[in-house]
Amino acid sequence: MRKLVAAGNWKMNTTLDSAGALASDLAKKVQQESSVEVILCPPFPYLTTVKEKVSGSSIKIGGQNCYHETEGAFTGETSVGMLQDIGCDWVILGHSERRHVMGETDADINKKTVAALEKGLGVILCVGELLEERQANKTNEVLQTQMEGGLSGVSAEALKNVIIAYEPVWAIGTGVTASTEEAESAHDFLRKWLTSNYNADVAESTRILYGGSVKPDNAEELMSQPNVDGALVGGASLKADSFGGIIDAAV
Ligand code: G3H
Repeated sequence: MRKLVAAGNWKMNTTLDSAGALASDLAKKVQQESSVEVILCPPFPYLTTVKEKVSGSSIKIGGQNCYHETEGAFTGETSVGMLQDIGCDWVILGHSERRHVMGETDADINKKTVAALEKGLGVILCVGELLEERQANKTNEVLQTQMEGGLSGVSAEALKNVIIAYEPVWAIGTGVTASTEEAESAHDFLRKWLTSNYNADVAESTRILYGGSVKPDNAEELMSQPNVDGALVGGASLKADSFGGIIDAAV
């Protein structure tokens, strides 16, 4: 039985005040014992504040990115150890905005994934196709390439600390959500990939989240699909009532 996940990726949004207020509101909602794993990924400067505000709840925090080196002359970068120092349990890697805006490759993402897992930081690894790739019937090919690239050298044991997020790029921030059939078909492909490349136990226990215009009114139907184990939410995670509605859908 996989524990469902509601993860909020705040991207480059909020202020110190609004981030703290949002975290406090969510902490009131999510008790210490929760049937849903709630993860908040605020911008780096607000991680410590958010961590403080959610203490007493079961909410975990995560970074939106990290760098694979441990320290040194890497201006602007944040190491795995730094994220762990301030209480992060998770890091989002391979998000489509990192891939398509910042130009990260599967090789870059793999270095970060390996570095995070080596230190015991959980990885939310995002994969997903562009609209033109879907239209050219290349969705599964893209997912396979991103899974192979991102998880190269990652053992079955290390994979216990990985959550996969399927995020079709055409559904991110567009208001266009993948249909339940489209989401389930991609998740089923990803789970079969895990079976072939790891084993049936790994495939059965790995959470695969859907991301892309998830809202309270579509979350329940998406998460009722057999291979959809929760959501990675952008826009709708920025308000306590809408993210709260998505958490409720996962309960
Ligand atoms: O990481 C979250 C995704 O990019 C989804 O964003 O819910 O605003 O479409 P969205």
